[in-house]
Amino acid sequence: MNGDVILFSCPTLSSIVTFADMQHKGRSQIRERIEELSFQLEAWARAYHVSDEPVVSDQDYDACLRELIQLETEHPDLRLPDSPSSRVGAAPRENVEKHRHLIPMLSLANAFSLEDVESWANRNLRFLKSPEDLFVPLVVEEKMDGLALSLTYTLLDTTKPEKGYSLRLATTRGDGTIGEIVTPNAKTLREIPLKLAASASGTLKAALGEIPSDLEIRGEIYMDHKGFEKLNELLAGKGQKLAANPRNAAAGSLRLLDSKLVAERPLRFFAYQIAGLRIAQSETLKLLSSWGFAVNPNWTILKSFTELEDRIHHYASLRQQSGAAALSYDIDGLVLKVDDPEKVALLGSIANSPRWAIAYKLPAIEAQSFVESIEVQVGRTGQITPVAWLRPTSVGGVVVSRATLHNEEQIRLKDIRIGDTVWIRRAGEVIPEVIKVETSLRPGNSVPYAMPELCPACRTKLVREKSALLCVNRLCPAKTVERIRHFASRHAMDIRGLGEQLVERFWELGWIKTLPDIYRLRDHETELKVLEGLGEKSVTKLLEAIENSKKQTPEKFLFGLGIDLIGETTAEDLVNQERVNGDLETLFALSEEELVELDNVGPGIAQSLAKAARDAHFRSELDELRELGLENCIKSPRDVGPRKTTEGGRLSGFTFVITGTLDRSRDEIKKDLKALGATFTDSISKNTNYLIAGEAAGSKLVKAQKLGVTIWGQTELDRILAGASPSEL
Ligand code: IVH
Repeated sequence: MNGDVILFSCPTLSSIVTFADMQHKGRSQIRERIEELSFQLEAWARAYHVSDEPVVSDQDYDACLRELIQLETEHPDLRLPDSPSSRVGAAPRENVEKHRHLIPMLSLANAFSLEDVESWANRNLRFLKSPEDLFVPLVVEEKMDGLALSLTYTLLDTTKPEKGYSLRLATTRGDGTIGEIVTPNAKTLREIPLKLAASASGTLKAALGEIPSDLEIRGEIYMDHKGFEKLNELLAGKGQKLAANPRNAAAGSLRLLDSKLVAERPLRFFAYQIAGLRIAQSETLKLLSSWGFAVNPNWTILKSFTELEDRIHHYASLRQQSGAAALSYDIDGLVLKVDDPEKVALLGSIANSPRWAIAYKLPAIEAQSFVESIEVQVGRTGQITPVAWLRPTSVGGVVVSRATLHNEEQIRLKDIRIGDTVWIRRAGEVIPEVIKVETSLRPGNSVPYAMPELCPACRTKLVREKSALLCVNRLCPAKTVERIRHFASRHAMDIRGLGEQLVERFWELGWIKTLPDIYRLRDHETELKVLEGLGEKSVTKLLEAIENSKKQTPEKFLFGLGIDLIGETTAEDLVNQERVNGDLETLFALSEEELVELDNVGPGIAQSLAKAARDAHFRSELDELRELGLENCIKSPRDVGPRKTTEGGRLSGFTFVITGTLDRSRDEIKKDLKALGATFTDSISKNTNYLIAGEAAGSKLVKAQKLGVTIWGQTELDRILAGASPSEL
């Protein structure tokens, strides 16, 4: 480089910087320049996202950012702690650290109609002992279909609050109590301020009379439609798997380990809450915006039911629109929040949801499509599941090309045929499903769909067992691959990196044909490292993850073994029973008669366990796994005594099964109901008291109806969580 080569220059901020200039500039000038650039970049980011008025072009912003990074690289000691250069990402994280939220992150109860909202409002009035004809003003916001993020901001100097707050931590919601730390990733979003506007401490002092040292600010990470399309184009270009919808894309992106990659993802953020502070919601939104956050502008205050009704109708019609009139991002409803902070404090929360807010769910989006073909998939237990391939159709902004048909019975009941025009539905995170066939558009030569006679993977004749169709070939490649994939999956042995594609590849190479083979993979280390697309680093990580999985608990291991009917809950329940006490050998030594004597074990589970225990292949696989170092997965006596049950809870003594898609994850709902004394099992038996059935409930619902088990939907569930007893429903 000669003396007058132009280095990274920020065209808008002073003039061109030359290499010679830099040589002559003293440290203090460089420090000044770094400060100037940092300040300006943050101010521009704020102007862009808060006032929606970009002051400079993206190119200019990037040029300044590059200059700042260059200076910081050469003078790392001069880098400011909240430098906007964190927007481009930091070194990859090695593992995922957890954080306990200062204030738990609750979820919202749902309303599906105006009547639901009305009864919620009336319940609140009764709770507040207010007159019945009162309307408590509500703030209505869009319910962003993304994922919640909590940002902890801390005073830089508690003795000098005027110095302001800086972003210390960003975490996902996790289970509401403990979330995953994603700070470097969150810092890449320009819509998240690294420092709060200097006015923050002053406005808080005025509003609260004090200045909290930590603030937990919450909002939603999301991807707009344009960003989602861009990301999928990028992934398609790299030959990678496409994201199914914007929410999955956002969630996957936020949890990437390498924040440099996150910086390339079109993630966005809307702030909507300051946890734990007594400030009106309408004021909160204004404050957040003045502090530099992006706040969704589509909020309003409602002062009557008529206004509420109008608002809901507005959104119902917005759903039908496309093009410029439609929203440019996904929402899955509206959130109604009591505005008055005193009332919010009085209302408090029940179980996992606040009383002061409710989600109004907009109806699922439906669209017409066409069945191009029907294919069957083989599950790990050999069960055959039919899937429809559809003409790619946009359902509320997401392109759908596949839908589950559940089982043979569903195809027969709905009479779904290849060549049919069908109505499909996408609701929340459910895999799209076919609701009904438009028979008037059916071609004359169409024939009912017949399930195949042979397994599509190994050509073995399929066997019909009750309503299921099964491949019983032990060595069926599809079954084996599924079984291994299940064993390695997150809720089982959690072997990160051993996903479907690798399992298939290793199976084809003959390296992993059985579960014990996973633990012999290190014998192929040299070959692995030269395998296309893997790389030394990921091989080391994979082998490490395999090694670490030897420390998993017997419940995870038992679930991972993929025994029929032994779901996650049953596995956990079995391992913790006094008689089993963390020892799977003891469990497998019990006879079918002894097994039914255990708590929550019906004849189906007992039969399935006993069958597995008698199977010589299964036993020898277990022996091999023990020899390969998994003895703690097979036996880990519990330190604490037998599982404690909640005495005297509203639901104690009742056994529940949960199925289908509900408003929250099944784990979360279970946690809430367990706190009220409920016991859960995975399958329906005559001992089941209640089935909680969400959308797309399948065989469990049918079985419960047959056995006369009481069935609850989302509404009953909401009422129980709101304080009702089963007898009051
Ligand atoms: S307020 C106490 N406001 O919905 C709960 N949540 O089901 C405070 N969400 O986990 C949440 N948009 O991820 C709130 N405008 C909004 C929202 C919103 C989306 C999500 C959020 C939360 C979930 C609750």
